[in-house]
Amino acid sequence: MQTVRVNVSYFQQHKTKGIPIVMLTAYDATTARIAEQAGVQVLLVGDTLGMVVQGHDTTVPVTLDEMLYHTRLVVRGTERAFVIGDLPFMTYNISSDQALANAARFLQQAGAQSVKLEGGQHMAPTIHRLVENGIPVMAHIGLTPQSVYQLGGWRVQGRTKAAATRLMDDARAVEEAGAYAVVLELVPTELAALISQRLQIPTIGIGAGPGCDGQVQVMHDILGLFEAFVPKHTYQYAQLGEAMRTAITTYKTEVEQRLFPTAAHAASIDTDLLAEL
Ligand code: KIV
Repeated sequence: MQTVRVNVSYFQQHKTKGIPIVMLTAYDATTARIAEQAGVQVLLVGDTLGMVVQGHDTTVPVTLDEMLYHTRLVVRGTERAFVIGDLPFMTYNISSDQALANAARFLQQAGAQSVKLEGGQHMAPTIHRLVENGIPVMAHIGLTPQSVYQLGGWRVQGRTKAAATRLMDDARAVEEAGAYAVVLELVPTELAALISQRLQIPTIGIGAGPGCDGQVQVMHDILGLFEAFVPKHTYQYAQLGEAMRTAITTYKTEVEQRLFPTAAHAASIDTDLLAEL
């Protein structure tokens, strides 16, 4: 029998019950499976993969085909998780027709249950169009990494009265447009808490403090795998980069010293057969 995945009602149920929503990024089948086994029920195939997997400086170069590929891997590696595919830069901004066609590919061709897109009030008509066509949308406001060049860097958003009001309006606009949840990235703690109180839909924070309805982190950050820089908003629950370097160094040494492989790591044939050769 086919396993049923977590569905979109999970978000509202958690908000209503006051249970924090745990969301984590995943980019491949193996790590997605581990995250699911660890109990994470919401996986975001984020375009952060451009930075933590592909080695770019920003998320801007990531393409739709790359996102669809990684989303397929995450879906293949999991059974129950709710998988969200991130629409990459300029694949939904040109028109709502473009957004609808590209968002549909995440559900139809990659097996995701939802898409995420960046933007507040100006993206509301697009969100509405997707939702009325049956595509659940997670919105993303505050620091929107695809606009990093426009924003002038990875800066906390909503620090002035005008900016905070705009952010509140953005949050209301995406809710009214039909988004089922909204990511708040790099938003001051107090403002994020206020937005979370005022919205009916859950907020998922990253660098937005504990007052959000859920939290999202980049897997490579919390595992200590991404070492180019460590964002202030993360916590390294493991140092896998260091663990990998140690393991690979040991492997190299053991091969060079002919300590690996041993007979136990390979197959053998019958000695009589060997003699005949
Ligand atoms: O792309 C991503 O991983 C994200 C999260 C950081 C929210 O958008």
